[in-house]
Amino acid sequence: MPKLFFTPVGVNCDVESNTKILAAANRSKVSMRFGCASCRCGTCAVKISAPENLSPMKSDEKNLLERMKLDLDGTVRLACQARIMQSEVTVDLNFQDSYSPDQGDD
Ligand code: FES
Repeated sequence: MPKLFFTPVGVNCDVESNTKILAAANRSKVSMRFGCASCRCGTCAVKISAPENLSPMKSDEKNLLERMKLDLDGTVRLACQARIMQSEVTVDLNFQDSYSPDQGDD
């Protein structure tokens, strides 16, 4: 069963494969910033330790991250879109303090 570790809060959880990061956080009562939950606002971006263990990024997620000028290498994902598929992933919530969902809007 895949595992998520939320830092810096220090919460571990086992989840079913194909679970969205945001859903896992909510079930584990981990406080995470989010808004639309549907890939529109960019509020839920988090830093990821092992992108290869997550579902591939779809074009709408990539386009939103690109608009926000965030990394597109898979190490930054939208928690409302990325699903853990296998093994372990660490989710760095401190990253949410490093950007504004409005950045990139000119
Ligand atoms: S909560 Fe709006 S993009 Fe994820």
